[in-house]
Amino acid sequence: MPRVSFERIHKAFGAVTVLRDLDLSIEHGEFLVLLGPSGCGKTTLLNMLAGLTDVTGGRILIGDRDVTDLDPKDRGLAMVFQSYALYPTKTVRGNLRFGLASARLPREEVERRVAWAARLLQIEPLLDRKPAQLSGGQRQRVAIGRALVKHAEVLLFDEPLSNLDAKLRTEMRLEIKRLHDELSPTVVYVTHDQIEAMTMATKIAVMNNGVIQQFGTPDEIYERPANLFVAGFIGAPAMNLKRARILRRGGLVAGVFGNGQQIDLGDYAFAKAPQEGSEIVVGMRPEYFGPPDAPAREAAAVFDLPVAHTERTGSDATGYLRFDEGLLSLRVEPGQAARLAGGQKVRVAFPKGKASLFDAATGGRL
Ligand SMILES: Nc1ncnc2c1ncn2[C@@H]1O[C@H](COP(=O)(O)OP(=O)(O)O)[C@@H](O)[C@H]1O
Ligand SMILES: [Mg+2]
Repeated sequence: MPRVSFERIHKAFGAVTVLRDLDLSIEHGEFLVLLGPSGCGKTTLLNMLAGLTDVTGGRILIGDRDVTDLDPKDRGLAMVFQSYALYPTKTVRGNLRFGLASARLPREEVERRVAWAARLLQIEPLLDRKPAQLSGGQRQRVAIGRALVKHAEVLLFDEPLSNLDAKLRTEMRLEIKRLHDELSPTVVYVTHDQIEAMTMATKIAVMNNGVIQQFGTPDEIYERPANLFVAGFIGAPAMNLKRARILRRGGLVAGVFGNGQQIDLGDYAFAKAPQEGSEIVVGMRPEYFGPPDAPAREAAAVFDLPVAHTERTGSDATGYLRFDEGLLSLRVEPGQAARLAGGQKVRVAFPKGKASLFDAATGGRL
C-alpha cells in the first residue's frame, strides 16, 4: 500500500482560489482524515486525488507515481461517496460485481471477491436484494463493499456516514475502523465530524479556507492545537478560550484575565519568552478542571465563580460558570451537576501543564 503525497497543490475555479499551496503527505497504511467546516475544500482535494477534478497547480503522487494527469481508473484507488451511488435496478451482488466491471477479471475471481467482501461486511444474506429493499446502513455497507472488491491500494471516502442516524454512524465508524485494522489500506477520509476524525484517523489534517491549519495525530491535535481555529474546532464542549495579559515578576510568569483572576504559566514551554503585558488567549479544556469545591493541589489556577447553569446528557454533564464577560465550561459528574444551583459560588481548579496559549493578535500557538 503506497504513500500519498500532495505537493504545492493549487486549485482555482475561475477567479476563485479554493486551495492554495497545499503540501500533505501520508505513509502507506495510514488513515488520513481531512477535517474542516463545510466549504473549506475537502471534497475538492479528495476529487483531485481521485482524478475527478483537475489540478490548477502542483503534483499528486501515489507511491512513486506522479498521477496528476492520469485517468481515474489508472490511479489504483476506489471511492465511497456520501450518496452511496448504487444502481437501483441491480441486486447487491450485481452492484458488487459492477465494482469490477472495468477490471476484466475471470468470472471465478469476481465471484470470489464478491463473496469475500460480503462476508467481511456481513451482507451475505442481502446479496439478492435491490438497494430499495435495504436500510441506509446496509446500503452504505454495499457501497463500501463495491470499493473493497477492487482491492485498491488507496481507499477514498467522502462523508460516507453523514446520511445515517447517530446510532448507525457509531456502528459504521467501528466497522470502518475494523476494516482498516484488518486490511490496512491507505485511507483518505473526508468529514466535518470531529468525532469521526478523532476515533478513526491515524493522522488528521484540519482545514479551513483551503489551508491546512494543522496536521498531526488525533492526540497531538487535541492536546497541542496549533492555533485558535483548531483549538475552537476540536473538542465538545469546546475548549475555553479566555483573553489574558502576561504578567512577569521576578521568576513568575502568569496570565491575568479581564476579571483579575490569574493562571500560573511558570511551567509552560514557551517557544519564545513572552513579553510583559502581551495579549494572549488561554485555552483550558473543560474536562481538565477538578471537580467543583474539591481541594486544589498543584493547581495552576483556582477560580471562585458563580454557577450560571448546568447541562446534563445522561452519562455526562457540563457546568457553566460566570467568568469575566462570558462563561467557563467544565465537565462535572452528573450527580454533582444536579446539586449545583444557579448563582451558587463554587471553587474550581485548573491543573498545571494543561493550558494551551495563543497569541491574541495572530492566533498562533505560543
Ligand atoms: N465546480 C465548482 N465550481 C465553483 N466552485 C466550486 C466548485 N466545486 C467547489 N467549489 C467551491 O470550492 C469551495 C470548496 O468546496 P468543497 O471542496 O466542496 O468543500 P467541502 O467538501 O470542504 O465542503 C467552496 O467554496 C465551493 O463553493
Ligand atoms: Mg464536501
